[in-house]
Amino acid sequence: MSINKKEFGANCAYFAALLVVAGIITVFGVAIVAQGFEGLEKLGYIIAPIALLVFVALATVHIYSVWIIKPSYKKFSKLREFLIINSIIVLDSMLSFFIFKYFSPFAVPIAAASLIVSMLISQRIGIVTGVFTACIISIVALPTESVLAGGLNVMQVGGIFVSMLSAVAATFLMHKGFTRLKVTVGTIIIGLAMMPLGLLFGFLQPDPEPLEVFRLCIYILLGNLIAVAFETLLLPLYEYIFRIWTDYKLAEICSLNQPLLRELKTKAPGTFAHCLTVSTLAENCAIAIGLNPFMARACAMYHDVGKMNNPQFFSENQTDGYNPHDDLIIDVSVKMITEHPAEGAQILKEHRMPDTVIRAALEHHGDSTLMFFYLKAKGITEKNLNMDGYRYSNPRPSTKYSAIIMICDMCEATIRAKKPQTKEELEGIVYNIIQGRILDGQLSDCDISMKDLAKIKTSVCEAIPSIFHDRIDYDKAKERR
Ligand SMILES: [Fe+2]
Ligand SMILES: [Fe+2]
Repeated sequence: MSINKKEFGANCAYFAALLVVAGIITVFGVAIVAQGFEGLEKLGYIIAPIALLVFVALATVHIYSVWIIKPSYKKFSKLREFLIINSIIVLDSMLSFFIFKYFSPFAVPIAAASLIVSMLISQRIGIVTGVFTACIISIVALPTESVLAGGLNVMQVGGIFVSMLSAVAATFLMHKGFTRLKVTVGTIIIGLAMMPLGLLFGFLQPDPEPLEVFRLCIYILLGNLIAVAFETLLLPLYEYIFRIWTDYKLAEICSLNQPLLRELKTKAPGTFAHCLTVSTLAENCAIAIGLNPFMARACAMYHDVGKMNNPQFFSENQTDGYNPHDDLIIDVSVKMITEHPAEGAQILKEHRMPDTVIRAALEHHGDSTLMFFYLKAKGITEKNLNMDGYRYSNPRPSTKYSAIIMICDMCEATIRAKKPQTKEELEGIVYNIIQGRILDGQLSDCDISMKDLAKIKTSVCEAIPSIFHDRIDYDKAKERR
């Protein structure tokens, strides 16, 4: 894997920062280890292994996230990633150490760090964070307790081990379509699943008491509940401080109970229905090309929110057969229509929506031509008409999300109007729409690839029959063969 000089410099700086953090944590660990002893010199032999282990663990998180894991759709600067991962590890380690010392090693909430990092950054880094937090607690707590007790306590090692397993298992709850309820219930189920390990460690004790063993199992479940509570407490703070739109928050803004969506539904019901259909298509496309489906859904749900200002000027809202454009001069019609992306972006800014969603609203028509009105104008004049007067005046899609919305938006509207009867007809329409966008240069300002576009075409063609199920007749296509 190649890395350029700038990246190399940044990574060296990162490792230097890791050394500083390792030093701080080492001092913290040593201070705790030193409690109750005459001087640090007696425990000097522990300092070097602690420093080495902390540095290696932190460096592993970094190497794993930067060089091994493929870039995720959630892009953070390395500084933000560093602050998020390490602050969570420190906070969770402190809480865990407290619970380890004064409650039970089996109730250590390591899963909290894994859950939060999985939600904010990625599932894989969440796993590494859980393992690393377990290392930190072992390094900080076990030597002290072992020296105090005169030997290594198997129950303490077992407690940390079981908590670490719970943390790793908890990250898998983040796999797809997680909700707060799923995470809470999932974490309880993991706690229940870990109970046999509590039984195992309990009965390994000399002269095990059934009540004590049962208590260990309850501690495991309790540890997982503490982890969920800590995650619930910290996550909104991290979302706010680092301005991160987690899948939770994105799912919340896509809820049909959101005031802005309810307003859209009331003022422009046709547009609302159109947005719902586009959101289904966009979500499928996002999954196909490895983008965040929640973000794609949010972009689609709000892309036409600017139409709320003048809903009657858009055909999907003209249910009574009256078309106000019939009474307007073409230039006014064009103005009314081309203003909706900028107006939508403004509304979304006022509602503090994610930047990607605002950009999708502004860019979903790019600077494309309103061909219907251009041809209409051409039909009533003999002069040479400049096409530029009939274009949207917005930026072209600058993100893959905006590009997906542009394509899905056109596909939905065209398919609704043309009502293709066969699979071939449908594929032809989608192909022509994508080709048309490419030839018009609308997709040249974003980093979408031909491979992505091929996948988008396939996923739109696959999703359309289930959305417009009464329109596409596959049997006809078979009959023609
Ligand atoms: Fe639009
Ligand atoms: Fe639209």
